[in-house]
Amino acid sequence: GFTRKFSSSAALNSVKTVTVVGGGLMGSGIAQVAAQAGQNVTIVDIKPELLDHAQKSIQNNLQRVAKKVHKDDPIKMEQFVKESISRIKITTNVEEAANVDLIVEAIVEKLEPKQELFNKLDKISPEHTIFATNTSSISVNAIGSGIKRKDRFGGLHFFNPVPVMRLLEVIKTESMSEETYKIMMEWGKSVGKTCITCKDTPGFVVNRLLGPYSAEALRLYERGDASKEDIDIGMKLGAGYPMGPFELADYTGLDTNKYVLEVLHKLTNNPVFRPIPLLDKMVSEGKLGVKTGEGFYKYKKYKGEARL
Ligand code: NAI
Repeated sequence: GFTRKFSSSAALNSVKTVTVVGGGLMGSGIAQVAAQAGQNVTIVDIKPELLDHAQKSIQNNLQRVAKKVHKDDPIKMEQFVKESISRIKITTNVEEAANVDLIVEAIVEKLEPKQELFNKLDKISPEHTIFATNTSSISVNAIGSGIKRKDRFGGLHFFNPVPVMRLLEVIKTESMSEETYKIMMEWGKSVGKTCITCKDTPGFVVNRLLGPYSAEALRLYERGDASKEDIDIGMKLGAGYPMGPFELADYTGLDTNKYVLEVLHKLTNNPVFRPIPLLDKMVSEGKLGVKTGEGFYKYKKYKGEARL
């Protein structure tokens, strides 16, 4: 086997160093909350320009957080931003970032690149390092099928935007050890999230339930039973949801919605997830929601990421 000189006991009770692989929308958010919590974070991305973008967007977000937390104290505000930023390193070389307590993967949503990444990390990371994937639609077990440390591997499924959304789904695989599970739950709490646990099942908890809800909303509208505006008002005022299903679909992206429904359909065979012609049409027309300026509603184009 592969041996290294790192102690394996130091990290058992707490995660102090984190690597986030993939510095896109989710990865930069994950890096931000970890840095805010006082952890040392390295972001890895294959594209250097993505790393620059991640750093800038984290800095902007931190400034917003600082204004809320230290509103009457400009010195503390600046200190908070500076200190958090100083805990974040960036690199395009994953080998430089493998020696940490926890590695969270947030790269492209495809099985093979994720497997390749973990197989490589499994060989170069110290024994104690815990691996987690942020996948929302791929089997966590499948992603880790090629690694030896199956007891120190699982899912940490964040929600967009990471610094704002309070939930973290901890995906507990059959081979995960109780210790790894505990560390993941504790880490989630340490970065300010409320953790729930779910087995490695299609869509986990939230997407498994949001899928049928949004699919049925789309069909209701497609049939002409109600306007999208009224459906949105209905779910906000009648069910207490913060956004209606069309506002939510625009926000998450219609391409993402379509993709999630397709995956859930394939994995569960439940007809509620069957294709929706209206959704397919809008995606093929490039009406993807907030990010393209138009979905079910029209938006001013944002330069950075979408904001609630
Ligand atoms: P994104 O496209 O914004 O970011 C992915 C980043 O990974 C890009 O910067 C890309 O350059 C980088 N990358 C690709 N292959 C790489 C590799 N081999 N090594 C290092 N970097 C690599 O994607 P996003 O939205 O941040 O999603 C990332 C993951 O998080 C996916 O698995 C997605 O399913 C999951 N997720 C996404 C959510 C969302 O709302 N967008 C919600 C929850 C999970």
